[in-house]
Amino acid sequence: MKTTTVWNAHPAHYWMHGHRPAEPVEFADSVGFWNISGYSEAHQILADPVTFVSDVGQFFPQGDSDDPLVKGLSEGNLLQMDGPAHRDHRRVVSRAFTPKMVADLEPRIAEIANGLVDGLVGRDEFDFVTEVAHPLPISVIAELLGVPVSDRDLFIYWADKLLESKNIYHEPNPSEDVQAASMAALREFAPMVDYLHQHTAERRRQPREDLLTVLAQADMTDSEVTHFGILLLFAGHVTTTSLLGSTIMCLDRLPDTSRKVRADRSLVPGLIEESLRFVSPVPAVFRATTVDTEIGGYPMPANQLLMIALGAVNRDPRQFANPEEFDIFRDPNPHLAFGRGAHFCLGAPLARLEGRIAMNILFDRLGELRVGTPPTFHPSPEMCGPRHLPVKQVQR
Ligand code: HEM
Repeated sequence: MKTTTVWNAHPAHYWMHGHRPAEPVEFADSVGFWNISGYSEAHQILADPVTFVSDVGQFFPQGDSDDPLVKGLSEGNLLQMDGPAHRDHRRVVSRAFTPKMVADLEPRIAEIANGLVDGLVGRDEFDFVTEVAHPLPISVIAELLGVPVSDRDLFIYWADKLLESKNIYHEPNPSEDVQAASMAALREFAPMVDYLHQHTAERRRQPREDLLTVLAQADMTDSEVTHFGILLLFAGHVTTTSLLGSTIMCLDRLPDTSRKVRADRSLVPGLIEESLRFVSPVPAVFRATTVDTEIGGYPMPANQLLMIALGAVNRDPRQFANPEEFDIFRDPNPHLAFGRGAHFCLGAPLARLEGRIAMNILFDRLGELRVGTPPTFHPSPEMCGPRHLPVKQVQR
Protein backbone atom coordinates (compact mmCIF):
# COMPACT_ATOMS: atom_id res chain seq x y z
CA MET A 1 0.00 0.00 0.00
CA LYS A 2 1.62 3.22 -1.10
CA THR A 3 0.99 5.92 1.49
CA THR A 4 3.07 8.54 -0.31
CA THR A 5 0.41 10.06 -2.49
CA VAL A 6 -2.73 9.59 -0.47
CA TRP A 7 -1.74 10.77 2.98
CA ASN A 8 -0.14 14.03 3.88
CA ALA A 9 2.11 12.88 6.72
CA HIS A 10 4.59 15.26 8.38
CA PRO A 11 7.67 15.74 6.14
CA ALA A 12 9.95 14.71 9.04
CA HIS A 13 8.39 11.23 8.88
CA TYR A 14 10.31 10.28 5.74
CA TRP A 15 9.27 6.60 5.92
CA MET A 16 5.67 7.69 5.39
CA HIS A 17 6.79 9.24 2.10
CA GLY A 18 8.56 6.13 0.80
CA HIS A 19 12.12 7.20 1.71
CA ARG A 20 14.84 5.23 3.50
CA PRO A 21 18.29 6.56 4.36
CA ALA A 22 21.14 4.80 2.56
CA GLU A 23 22.56 3.54 5.87
CA PRO A 24 20.72 2.30 9.00
CA VAL A 25 22.93 4.57 11.13
CA GLU A 26 23.47 7.98 9.59
CA PHE A 27 24.28 11.48 10.79
CA ALA A 28 21.46 13.76 9.67
CA ASP A 29 22.94 17.22 8.93
CA SER A 30 19.49 18.71 8.49
CA VAL A 31 18.65 18.14 12.16
CA GLY A 32 22.08 17.75 13.76
CA PHE A 33 21.70 14.28 15.30
CA TRP A 34 22.09 10.63 14.34
CA ASN A 35 19.20 8.99 12.60
CA ILE A 36 18.74 5.30 13.41
CA SER A 37 16.45 3.60 10.90
CA GLY A 38 17.65 0.00 11.15
CA TYR A 39 15.73 -2.59 13.19
CA SER A 40 18.65 -4.55 14.68
CA GLU A 41 20.46 -1.28 15.45
CA ALA A 42 17.39 0.09 17.27
CA HIS A 43 17.04 -3.19 19.12
CA GLN A 44 20.66 -2.99 20.29
CA ILE A 45 20.25 0.61 21.52
CA LEU A 46 16.97 0.10 23.36
CA ALA A 47 18.29 -3.06 25.04
CA ASP A 48 21.29 -1.26 26.55
CA PRO A 49 20.15 1.62 28.79
CA VAL A 50 23.65 2.04 30.25
CA THR A 51 25.47 2.87 27.01
CA PHE A 52 22.40 4.64 25.58
CA VAL A 53 20.66 6.80 28.16
CA SER A 54 17.26 8.50 28.06
CA ASP A 55 18.27 11.69 29.84
CA VAL A 56 18.78 13.74 26.68
CA GLY A 57 17.61 17.13 27.98
CA GLN A 58 21.07 18.72 27.67
CA PHE A 59 21.00 18.33 23.87
CA PHE A 60 17.98 20.56 23.40
CA PRO A 61 17.93 24.33 23.70
CA GLN A 62 15.55 24.24 26.65
CA GLY A 63 17.77 21.68 28.39
CA ASP A 64 20.07 24.25 30.04
CA SER A 65 17.27 26.65 30.85
CA ASP A 66 17.07 27.93 34.42
CA ASP A 67 13.39 28.56 33.91
CA PRO A 68 11.58 26.90 36.84
CA LEU A 69 8.87 25.62 34.50
CA VAL A 70 11.37 23.83 32.24
CA LYS A 71 13.34 22.46 35.21
CA GLY A 72 10.17 21.35 36.96
CA LEU A 73 8.98 19.47 33.89
CA SER A 74 12.17 17.50 33.45
CA GLU A 75 12.24 16.42 37.12
CA GLY A 76 10.38 13.21 37.80
CA ASN A 77 9.75 12.51 34.10
CA LEU A 78 9.93 8.71 33.86
CA LEU A 79 10.69 8.85 30.14
CA GLN A 80 13.92 10.76 30.74
CA MET A 81 15.13 8.89 33.83
CA ASP A 82 17.90 6.31 33.86
CA GLY A 83 19.47 3.67 36.09
CA PRO A 84 18.23 2.87 39.60
CA ALA A 85 16.13 6.06 39.79
CA HIS A 86 14.18 4.94 36.72
CA ARG A 87 13.95 1.34 37.93
CA ASP A 88 12.62 2.34 41.38
CA HIS A 89 10.17 4.90 40.04
CA ARG A 90 8.89 2.50 37.39
CA ARG A 91 8.44 -0.23 39.98
CA VAL A 92 6.22 2.04 42.09
CA VAL A 93 4.07 3.18 39.18
CA SER A 94 3.84 -0.35 37.74
CA ARG A 95 2.32 -1.50 41.02
CA ALA A 96 -0.37 1.12 40.58
CA PHE A 97 -0.90 0.33 36.90
CA THR A 98 -1.15 -3.44 36.69
CA PRO A 99 -2.28 -5.61 33.75
CA LYS A 100 -5.18 -6.88 35.90
CA MET A 101 -6.36 -3.35 36.60
CA VAL A 102 -6.27 -2.66 32.87
CA ALA A 103 -8.09 -5.90 31.99
CA ASP A 104 -10.82 -5.04 34.53
CA LEU A 105 -11.51 -1.88 32.55
CA GLU A 106 -12.91 -3.82 29.60
CA PRO A 107 -16.63 -3.39 30.37
CA ARG A 108 -16.23 0.32 31.09
CA ILE A 109 -14.22 0.92 27.89
CA ALA A 110 -16.96 -0.85 25.93
CA GLU A 111 -19.60 1.30 27.64
CA ILE A 112 -17.78 4.52 26.76
CA ALA A 113 -17.19 3.38 23.16
CA ASN A 114 -20.86 2.38 22.78
CA GLY A 115 -21.92 5.76 24.14
CA LEU A 116 -19.81 7.53 21.53
CA VAL A 117 -21.06 5.30 18.71
CA ASP A 118 -24.72 5.88 19.76
CA GLY A 119 -24.38 9.40 18.37
CA LEU A 120 -22.96 8.18 15.05
CA VAL A 121 -25.47 5.55 14.02
CA GLY A 122 -27.16 6.83 10.87
CA ARG A 123 -24.87 9.84 10.48
CA ASP A 124 -23.51 10.06 6.94
CA GLU A 125 -20.40 12.12 7.64
CA PHE A 126 -18.30 12.99 10.68
CA ASP A 127 -14.75 13.53 11.86
CA PHE A 128 -13.64 10.18 13.25
CA VAL A 129 -10.92 11.75 15.41
CA THR A 130 -13.25 14.30 17.04
CA GLU A 131 -16.07 11.82 17.57
CA VAL A 132 -14.24 8.63 18.58
CA ALA A 133 -10.45 8.55 18.43
CA HIS A 134 -9.97 11.50 20.78
CA PRO A 135 -12.80 11.14 23.30
CA LEU A 136 -12.46 7.38 23.87
CA PRO A 137 -8.88 7.23 25.22
CA ILE A 138 -9.21 10.58 27.01
CA SER A 139 -12.34 9.47 28.83
CA VAL A 140 -10.73 6.16 29.80
CA ILE A 141 -7.54 7.68 31.16
CA ALA A 142 -9.35 10.57 32.88
CA GLU A 143 -11.70 8.14 34.66
CA LEU A 144 -8.82 5.89 35.59
CA LEU A 145 -6.83 8.74 37.06
CA GLY A 146 -9.88 10.30 38.66
CA VAL A 147 -9.92 13.71 36.95
CA PRO A 148 -13.19 15.06 35.47
CA VAL A 149 -13.88 13.78 31.96
CA SER A 150 -15.69 17.09 31.35
CA ASP A 151 -12.25 18.74 31.26
CA ARG A 152 -11.54 16.78 28.08
CA ASP A 153 -11.08 19.83 25.83
CA LEU A 154 -8.51 21.19 28.26
CA PHE A 155 -6.49 17.98 28.08
CA ILE A 156 -6.53 18.12 24.28
CA TYR A 157 -5.45 21.78 24.35
CA TRP A 158 -2.62 21.12 26.82
CA ALA A 159 -1.40 18.10 24.83
CA ASP A 160 -1.29 20.19 21.64
CA LYS A 161 0.70 22.88 23.46
CA LEU A 162 3.17 20.38 24.89
CA LEU A 163 3.72 18.91 21.44
CA GLU A 164 4.07 22.40 19.94
CA SER A 165 6.74 23.26 22.51
CA LYS A 166 8.75 20.25 21.30
CA ASN A 167 8.84 21.29 17.63
CA ILE A 168 12.13 22.95 18.48
CA TYR A 169 13.73 19.50 18.96
CA HIS A 170 13.62 19.06 15.23
CA GLU A 171 15.30 22.38 14.36
CA PRO A 172 19.11 22.16 14.22
CA ASN A 173 19.76 25.83 15.02
CA PRO A 174 16.53 27.33 16.27
CA SER A 175 16.24 31.08 15.85
CA GLU A 176 15.25 33.27 18.80
CA ASP A 177 11.73 33.47 17.40
CA VAL A 178 11.43 29.68 17.29
CA GLN A 179 12.76 29.42 20.84
CA ALA A 180 10.33 32.08 22.04
CA ALA A 181 7.41 30.31 20.34
CA SER A 182 8.41 27.06 22.03
CA MET A 183 8.54 28.71 25.46
CA ALA A 184 5.19 30.42 24.82
CA ALA A 185 3.62 27.02 24.03
CA LEU A 186 5.18 25.57 27.17
CA ARG A 187 3.72 28.37 29.29
CA GLU A 188 0.26 27.64 27.90
CA PHE A 189 0.77 24.03 28.88
CA ALA A 190 1.93 24.97 32.42
CA PRO A 191 -1.57 25.15 33.99
CA MET A 192 -1.78 21.38 33.50
CA VAL A 193 0.95 21.03 36.13
CA ASP A 194 -1.06 23.10 38.65
CA TYR A 195 -4.21 21.24 37.70
CA LEU A 196 -2.74 17.83 38.53
CA HIS A 197 -0.96 19.19 41.55
CA GLN A 198 -4.29 20.36 42.99
CA HIS A 199 -5.94 17.01 42.30
CA THR A 200 -3.01 15.18 43.93
CA ALA A 201 -3.17 17.37 47.04
CA GLU A 202 -6.90 16.75 47.28
CA ARG A 203 -6.41 12.95 47.08
CA ARG A 204 -3.98 13.13 49.98
CA ARG A 205 -6.66 14.91 52.01
CA GLN A 206 -9.56 12.83 50.73
CA PRO A 207 -8.64 9.46 49.22
CA ARG A 208 -10.93 8.08 46.49
CA GLU A 209 -11.15 4.95 44.38
CA ASP A 210 -8.83 6.16 41.63
CA LEU A 211 -5.30 5.88 40.32
CA LEU A 212 -4.24 9.31 41.60
CA THR A 213 -5.10 8.17 45.11
CA VAL A 214 -3.10 4.94 44.65
CA LEU A 215 -0.14 6.99 43.41
CA ALA A 216 -0.50 9.54 46.21
CA GLN A 217 -0.51 6.70 48.75
CA ALA A 218 2.57 5.06 47.18
CA ASP A 219 6.03 6.16 48.14
CA MET A 220 6.00 9.18 45.83
CA THR A 221 6.37 12.90 46.32
CA ASP A 222 3.63 15.31 45.17
CA SER A 223 5.83 16.37 42.29
CA GLU A 224 6.39 12.75 41.18
CA VAL A 225 2.67 11.96 41.32
CA THR A 226 1.89 15.14 39.39
CA HIS A 227 4.43 14.34 36.66
CA PHE A 228 3.34 10.75 36.31
CA GLY A 229 -0.27 11.97 36.12
CA ILE A 230 0.72 14.34 33.30
CA LEU A 231 2.57 11.56 31.49
CA LEU A 232 -0.44 9.26 31.74
CA LEU A 233 -2.93 11.91 30.73
CA PHE A 234 -0.76 12.88 27.77
CA ALA A 235 0.76 9.51 26.67
CA GLY A 236 -2.53 7.83 27.49
CA HIS A 237 -4.52 9.65 24.86
CA VAL A 238 -2.61 11.22 21.94
CA THR A 239 -0.93 7.92 21.08
CA THR A 240 -4.10 5.83 21.19
CA THR A 241 -5.96 8.55 19.28
CA SER A 242 -3.39 8.12 16.48
CA LEU A 243 -3.68 4.34 16.61
CA LEU A 244 -7.47 4.40 16.21
CA GLY A 245 -7.44 7.00 13.42
CA SER A 246 -4.61 5.31 11.54
CA THR A 247 -6.36 1.94 11.67
CA ILE A 248 -9.44 3.43 10.00
CA MET A 249 -7.19 5.18 7.46
CA CYS A 250 -5.43 1.90 6.58
CA LEU A 251 -8.68 -0.05 6.27
CA ASP A 252 -10.03 2.61 3.93
CA ARG A 253 -7.18 1.91 1.51
CA LEU A 254 -7.78 -1.85 1.64
CA PRO A 255 -11.49 -2.67 1.30
CA ASP A 256 -10.74 -6.37 0.94
CA THR A 257 -8.90 -6.47 4.28
CA SER A 258 -11.70 -4.44 5.81
CA ARG A 259 -14.29 -7.00 4.70
CA LYS A 260 -12.19 -9.88 6.03
CA VAL A 261 -11.77 -8.37 9.51
CA ARG A 262 -15.43 -7.42 9.74
CA ALA A 263 -16.36 -11.02 8.96
CA ASP A 264 -13.75 -12.63 11.24
CA ARG A 265 -13.08 -10.76 14.46
CA SER A 266 -10.23 -13.06 15.45
CA LEU A 267 -8.28 -10.93 12.95
CA VAL A 268 -8.71 -7.71 14.97
CA PRO A 269 -5.57 -8.14 17.15
CA GLY A 270 -3.48 -8.68 13.98
CA LEU A 271 -5.05 -5.55 12.50
CA ILE A 272 -4.08 -3.48 15.56
CA GLU A 273 -0.49 -4.79 15.54
CA GLU A 274 -0.06 -4.08 11.84
CA SER A 275 -1.49 -0.59 12.27
CA LEU A 276 1.06 0.03 15.06
CA ARG A 277 3.84 -1.13 12.75
CA PHE A 278 2.67 0.71 9.65
CA VAL A 279 1.86 4.10 11.21
CA SER A 280 3.81 3.99 14.47
CA PRO A 281 2.09 6.69 16.60
CA VAL A 282 5.30 7.56 18.48
CA PRO A 283 7.48 8.13 15.44
CA ALA A 284 10.79 8.34 17.29
CA VAL A 285 12.50 8.17 20.68
CA PHE A 286 15.81 9.76 21.64
CA ARG A 287 18.87 8.34 23.39
CA ALA A 288 22.39 9.65 24.10
CA THR A 289 25.66 7.69 24.10
CA THR A 290 27.61 7.68 27.39
CA VAL A 291 30.84 6.16 26.00
CA ASP A 292 32.59 5.54 22.68
CA THR A 293 30.82 2.52 21.24
CA GLU A 294 29.57 0.98 18.01
CA ILE A 295 26.08 0.42 16.71
CA GLY A 296 25.67 -2.49 14.31
CA GLY A 297 29.33 -2.08 13.30
CA TYR A 298 29.16 1.72 12.90
CA PRO A 299 31.58 3.50 15.27
CA MET A 300 29.78 5.94 17.55
CA PRO A 301 31.54 8.45 19.82
CA ALA A 302 30.36 9.32 23.33
CA ASN A 303 27.91 12.21 23.93
CA GLN A 304 26.00 11.81 20.70
CA LEU A 305 22.26 12.34 20.34
CA LEU A 306 20.48 9.48 18.57
CA MET A 307 16.98 9.59 17.15
CA ILE A 308 15.62 6.07 16.88
CA ALA A 309 13.04 6.50 14.15
CA LEU A 310 10.59 3.81 15.25
CA GLY A 311 8.42 4.39 12.18
CA ALA A 312 11.36 3.72 9.85
CA VAL A 313 12.66 0.85 12.01
CA ASN A 314 9.25 -0.80 11.71
CA ARG A 315 9.62 -0.75 7.92
CA ASP A 316 13.17 -2.12 7.78
CA PRO A 317 13.19 -4.64 4.88
CA ARG A 318 15.93 -6.63 6.65
CA GLN A 319 13.37 -7.45 9.37
CA PHE A 320 9.94 -7.25 7.73
CA ALA A 321 9.17 -8.92 4.40
CA ASN A 322 7.37 -6.46 2.08
CA PRO A 323 7.44 -3.71 4.71
CA GLU A 324 5.38 -1.31 2.57
CA GLU A 325 2.51 -3.80 2.48
CA PHE A 326 -0.17 -3.50 5.17
CA ASP A 327 -0.58 -7.18 6.07
CA ILE A 328 -2.76 -8.07 9.05
CA PHE A 329 -1.60 -11.72 8.76
CA ARG A 330 2.02 -10.82 9.53
CA ASP A 331 3.13 -13.39 12.11
CA PRO A 332 5.28 -12.74 14.01
CA ASN A 333 5.05 -8.96 13.93
CA PRO A 334 7.85 -7.86 16.25
CA HIS A 335 7.36 -4.10 15.70
CA LEU A 336 8.93 -1.65 18.12
CA ALA A 337 6.01 0.80 18.22
CA PHE A 338 5.87 0.49 22.03
CA GLY A 339 9.65 0.68 22.36
CA ARG A 340 11.65 -2.08 24.00
CA GLY A 341 13.60 -2.80 27.17
CA ALA A 342 13.70 -0.66 30.29
CA HIS A 343 11.28 2.01 28.99
CA PHE A 344 8.87 -0.33 27.20
CA CYS A 345 5.46 1.35 27.14
CA LEU A 346 3.59 0.86 30.42
CA GLY A 347 0.30 1.56 28.67
CA ALA A 348 0.68 -1.03 25.87
CA PRO A 349 -1.94 -3.44 27.32
CA LEU A 350 -4.39 -0.55 27.72
CA ALA A 351 -3.79 0.79 24.19
CA ARG A 352 -4.22 -2.70 22.70
CA LEU A 353 -7.40 -3.28 24.71
CA GLU A 354 -8.90 0.05 23.66
CA GLY A 355 -8.01 -0.64 20.03
CA ARG A 356 -9.58 -4.09 20.07
CA ILE A 357 -12.79 -2.98 21.83
CA ALA A 358 -13.22 0.11 19.66
CA MET A 359 -12.75 -1.74 16.37
CA ASN A 360 -15.18 -4.50 17.34
CA ILE A 361 -17.86 -2.00 18.35
CA LEU A 362 -17.36 0.04 15.19
CA PHE A 363 -17.64 -3.08 13.03
CA ASP A 364 -20.73 -4.24 14.95
CA ARG A 365 -22.65 -1.02 14.91
CA LEU A 366 -21.56 1.23 12.05
CA GLY A 367 -21.42 0.94 8.29
CA GLU A 368 -18.11 1.03 6.45
CA LEU A 369 -16.16 4.19 7.20
CA ARG A 370 -14.64 5.65 4.02
CA VAL A 371 -12.17 8.48 4.23
CA GLY A 372 -13.64 11.49 2.45
CA THR A 373 -11.24 14.39 2.07
CA PRO A 374 -7.59 13.58 2.85
CA PRO A 375 -6.80 13.31 6.57
CA THR A 376 -5.00 16.14 8.34
CA PHE A 377 -1.94 14.72 10.00
CA HIS A 378 -0.70 15.81 13.39
CA PRO A 379 1.19 19.08 12.89
CA SER A 380 3.88 17.97 15.35
CA PRO A 381 6.83 15.80 14.26
CA GLU A 382 6.54 14.21 17.73
CA MET A 383 3.39 12.35 16.78
CA CYS A 384 2.31 10.39 13.71
CA GLY A 385 -1.32 9.86 12.79
CA PRO A 386 -4.40 11.81 11.81
CA ARG A 387 -5.45 14.88 13.83
CA HIS A 388 -8.63 15.10 11.78
CA LEU A 389 -10.15 12.31 9.72
CA PRO A 390 -13.37 13.14 7.87
CA VAL A 391 -15.23 9.93 7.07
CA LYS A 392 -18.39 9.00 5.18
CA GLN A 393 -20.46 6.17 6.55
CA VAL A 394 -21.54 3.70 3.89
CA GLN A 395 -24.39 1.49 5.05
CA ARG A 396 -23.92 -2.22 4.39
C1 HEM B 1 6.52 4.70 27.04
C2 HEM B 1 4.42 4.25 22.69
C3 HEM B 1 0.03 4.25 24.80
C4 HEM B 1 2.11 5.25 29.03
C5 HEM B 1 6.32 4.53 25.69
C6 HEM B 1 7.38 4.34 24.71
C7 HEM B 1 6.78 4.26 23.49
C8 HEM B 1 5.35 4.34 23.69
C9 HEM B 1 7.47 4.10 22.14
C10 HEM B 1 8.88 4.22 25.01
C11 HEM B 1 9.58 5.53 25.11
C12 HEM B 1 11.08 5.38 25.16
O1 HEM B 1 11.63 4.29 25.03
O2 HEM B 1 11.74 6.42 25.32
C13 HEM B 1 3.05 4.19 22.90
C14 HEM B 1 2.06 3.94 21.85
C15 HEM B 1 0.83 3.93 22.45
C16 HEM B 1 1.04 4.19 23.86
C17 HEM B 1 2.40 3.72 20.38
C18 HEM B 1 -0.55 3.73 21.87
C19 HEM B 1 -0.81 3.24 20.70
C20 HEM B 1 0.21 4.50 26.12
C21 HEM B 1 -0.85 4.57 27.10
C22 HEM B 1 -0.25 4.88 28.29
C23 HEM B 1 1.17 4.97 28.06
C24 HEM B 1 -2.33 4.31 26.81
C25 HEM B 1 -0.86 5.08 29.64
C26 HEM B 1 -2.09 5.12 29.93
C27 HEM B 1 3.48 5.18 28.84
C28 HEM B 1 4.44 5.40 29.90
C29 HEM B 1 5.71 5.26 29.34
C30 HEM B 1 5.50 4.95 27.93
C31 HEM B 1 4.12 5.73 31.36
C32 HEM B 1 7.05 5.45 30.02
C33 HEM B 1 7.71 4.16 30.43
C34 HEM B 1 9.13 4.38 30.97
O3 HEM B 1 9.76 5.38 30.63
O4 HEM B 1 9.58 3.51 31.72
N1 HEM B 1 5.09 4.50 25.04
N2 HEM B 1 2.39 4.35 24.08
N3 HEM B 1 1.41 4.74 26.74
N4 HEM B 1 4.14 4.89 27.68
FE1 HEM B 1 3.26 4.52 25.92
